[in-house]
Amino acid sequence: MNSTPRPIDAAAVYRRLLGYARPHWGMFLIGVVGMVMYAAVSTITAWFVKKFLNAAFVAQNLEVLRYVPIGIILLFLLRGVGDFLANYFPGWVGRQMIKAIRADLFAHYLRLPTAWYERDSTGPMLSRLTYNTELVADAATNSATVLIRDSLTIAGLVFYLFWLNWRLAAFAMLAAPVIALLVRSVNQRFRRYSTRIQNSMGDVTRLAKEAIDAHRVVKVFNAQEHMQAAFESANELNRHSNMRLISARSSSNPVVQLIAALGLASVVYVAIRQVEGGAMLVGDFLGFLTALLLVPEPLRRLVSVSGPLQQSIAAGAGIFEVIDAPGEPEGGTRRLARARGEVEFRGVGFTYDTEKGKVLHDINLRVAAGTTVAIVGRSGSGKSTLVSLLPRFYDPDTGAVLLDGVDIREYRLSDLRSQISLVSQEVVLFNDTIRNNIVFGAQGIEAGDVDAAAHAAYVSDFVAELPQGLDTEVGDRGLLLSGGQRQRIAIARALLRNSPVLVLDEATSALDTASERHIQEALDKLVRNRTTFVIAHRLSTVEHADLIVVMQDGAIIEAGTHTELVAGSRVYAQLHQLQFNV
Ligand SMILES: Nc1ncnc2c1ncn2[C@@H]1O[C@H](COP(=O)(O)OP(=O)(O)O)[C@@H](O)[C@H]1O
Ligand SMILES: [Mg+2]
Repeated sequence: MNSTPRPIDAAAVYRRLLGYARPHWGMFLIGVVGMVMYAAVSTITAWFVKKFLNAAFVAQNLEVLRYVPIGIILLFLLRGVGDFLANYFPGWVGRQMIKAIRADLFAHYLRLPTAWYERDSTGPMLSRLTYNTELVADAATNSATVLIRDSLTIAGLVFYLFWLNWRLAAFAMLAAPVIALLVRSVNQRFRRYSTRIQNSMGDVTRLAKEAIDAHRVVKVFNAQEHMQAAFESANELNRHSNMRLISARSSSNPVVQLIAALGLASVVYVAIRQVEGGAMLVGDFLGFLTALLLVPEPLRRLVSVSGPLQQSIAAGAGIFEVIDAPGEPEGGTRRLARARGEVEFRGVGFTYDTEKGKVLHDINLRVAAGTTVAIVGRSGSGKSTLVSLLPRFYDPDTGAVLLDGVDIREYRLSDLRSQISLVSQEVVLFNDTIRNNIVFGAQGIEAGDVDAAAHAAYVSDFVAELPQGLDTEVGDRGLLLSGGQRQRIAIARALLRNSPVLVLDEATSALDTASERHIQEALDKLVRNRTTFVIAHRLSTVEHADLIVVMQDGAIIEAGTHTELVAGSRVYAQLHQLQFNV
């Protein structure tokens, strides 16, 4: 989803971006006052030149020239204050905007439907949050400042030019439409390249993230060169697209300046004829010339602002695409404080991708409250998919999943999810203390509860040796934990949550038999009095389940207790033989 540029409604995007600035309009207004001050200085300068020269050379009053140095100082003072206000306050507003947009985006990253995370890779998602938001602020601050301040400057100067000599001014304005056309075509190119740059930034971030996350795999497969090559092409594409932008920008300026210079030369030619003919005073002529010479610089800035502006519109479009994406459905309205834990899959069919076909076929499975059901089967048979329907990571295409006899879609989503704990093979620990990792998100917890959970999950065993105990940091900056230790933290988390439904998706597959045995005791405590789904490869861990179902190609092909299946089934009996009799 990242390579095809979509048509962008620039005006709509810009309006929405301005929406983020709206709460701070007062601060921005102070900035605008600064811009007006700054802009006024240009026109006042031209007026000064005219006044002083007419007084000194036409009226022969050299006294007035004494005031020139003071005038210079005052003008620069005014301009300096204006400059400060025009930069500081819009800058302030810009940072507020970045913060607000980041907050919105992050909030969406927490609420997007599961499928989104699988479709869009992490790199682009991260670069939107870091890179795009910065570009957007540029529109709000620098670009808006330039846009307002320099348009005002030019407007003031043009007004003054017409006031001094409208014929001459009208003649000078002939260059305007040519410049406008040029700016327009440059704008269009800018937007196109900006979208490309953003996409390539996403690729750069993604590749870097992959290389960092998978550093061990990269090393052991000697894949450095392969990764380097992939990075090189993304990096080069990024450079190339940026170069297109730079060349558009650097060539547009000289062309605009050249057109302006041609206009200026013709105007000066005509003006000198007028002065010679006595139709214009020398001061008026030089005032006119000064005003005219002051136009190209703000004009240059105004032309080059289109670059950042187009970039930020493209960046904003990338952000709003996420913000506009529908989040997860809220679910129904039915409240659920604590479920009994009876779960039923009734005629459930599910497809991830219509091209790849059905992943689950007509699943019918009833699990009585407080019992344990084991799901076994080859990898790819649909076990994880089946349990991922429970917390509504996905919804079935046909049939329904019921909790306590009610379709789970009728419950409020947060109520439903608070009934379910999930422990999977890969334990994600957050960069925080062990205690906070156990508490993670649970509400109304007392310190004693955490200690009890840590004790029951045998977390206390390895934590006891740590100087800061449960308050030791884990993750990047702290302690490195073994797979078994991480697993025990996950179990403590689930124990503390104390939810009526528990899903163990290959929760112990990463462990060796010895650590598994150790964790088994913790697990035995965990499954007590809960409806538990256990997915496991090692059949020894599922033998005692109340019910064992065997899945194959998305369907349940056998079901029964261990004794029944060993005696009467084909697939389970075969699996069992493979694991124990070889
Ligand atoms: N997020 C996904 N998007 C698309 N297809 C998926 C996704 N997850 C799993 N699959 C496919 O669905 C099938 C069942 O996968 P899964 O439920 O993970 O099996 P198991 O847990 O039994 O190994 C597999 O063919 C797998 O390729
Ligand atoms: Mg699985």
